[in-house]
Amino acid sequence: MLIGKVKINGTAVLAPMAGVTDRAFREICSMFGASALTSEMISVKGLIHHDKKTLKLLSDRKNDCKNSASCEIPTQNCPPFIIQLFGYDPNDFIEATKIVGEFNPDIIDINMGCPAPKIIKSGAGSYLMKNPELCGKIVDAVKRSSKVPVTVKIRSGIDSNHKNAVEVAKECEFYGAGAITIHGRTREQMYSGETDLEIIKSVVKNVSIPVIGNGDITNFQKAKYMIDCTGCKMVAVGRGALGNPWIFKSINSNKDIPSPTIDEKIKIMKLHIEKLILYKGEALAMTEARKHLSWYVKGIKCATVLRKHIFEMKSLNDFNVICNILLKID
Ligand SMILES: Cc1cc2nc3c(=O)[nH]c(=O)nc-3n(C[C@H](O)[C@H](O)[C@H](O)COP(=O)(O)O)c2cc1C
Repeated sequence: MLIGKVKINGTAVLAPMAGVTDRAFREICSMFGASALTSEMISVKGLIHHDKKTLKLLSDRKNDCKNSASCEIPTQNCPPFIIQLFGYDPNDFIEATKIVGEFNPDIIDINMGCPAPKIIKSGAGSYLMKNPELCGKIVDAVKRSSKVPVTVKIRSGIDSNHKNAVEVAKECEFYGAGAITIHGRTREQMYSGETDLEIIKSVVKNVSIPVIGNGDITNFQKAKYMIDCTGCKMVAVGRGALGNPWIFKSINSNKDIPSPTIDEKIKIMKLHIEKLILYKGEALAMTEARKHLSWYVKGIKCATVLRKHIFEMKSLNDFNVICNILLKID
């Protein structure tokens, strides 16, 4: 699939997830064949005001996956890197796009789907879908200031009475969006309820740019079903990848793959932690690693006991103790 001139192999993209899709996790997902890797959402206001926290989200991502000694993926096989921006003012987006260009994204994505109250209150995220004209203006602003393709990520609409994804998608396409990711839920639904495949299908029918379907893809069968039912070109995987980067391999080969053994899980968890330490320092890394480990051990015997140890983990040594428990359980 092509987004502008950017070639994307396979069918499963890593969806943006704040607090999750940092450089360490993206590199892990790329090892399992994720077709493209999306950053956490980045505030345009934060960028233009040189907010330290915002810049930190990006600063450890300079040349993401490219020329990184810690990344096992040869540069030529490195999947495209997408930086996602959120905001509401087209002028902010113009400035932020210029700044973000220094971090070498392959694609810039605009968040028009976040339902979090804090984001909505500021007029960003899925609040933008109330105003399709403004969505178009933002795409236009980013497109004019960016050297790389611009994409958008939307929801099915605001609520069940206002499912205007088709209108928003058409407006974004008109102003030059190179692809649309649609999460088949309304803002009101947040993350629960069924993913609406019909609205994804309608968007596919009404635009001529590639559409990436999103919502509840937890295995290759669901990915295939979404692609077959809606005609979308690819799927974006969010929660299905938590503690399960293997999902990209399964979707991209369109078959079940053997579940990872405990040894394999330990190897990947260790690598993940090492990357977190490298990019964030041990103290922060060990705190952030806790949630990832608790996802990796999902479904393993005695997961509740393991999680107790995981949430007390402070050092690599503590991690080794957890590995020993895991090996004994096995
Ligand atoms: C922890 C978490 C953080 C998220 N952060 C973002 C984000 O920064 N930007 C965005 O567009 N969507 C974000 N999302 C939404 C996901 O990208 C995705 O649209 C949603 O989870 C549905 O897909 P899934 O069922 O595969 O998880 C987030 C979701 C989760 C669970």
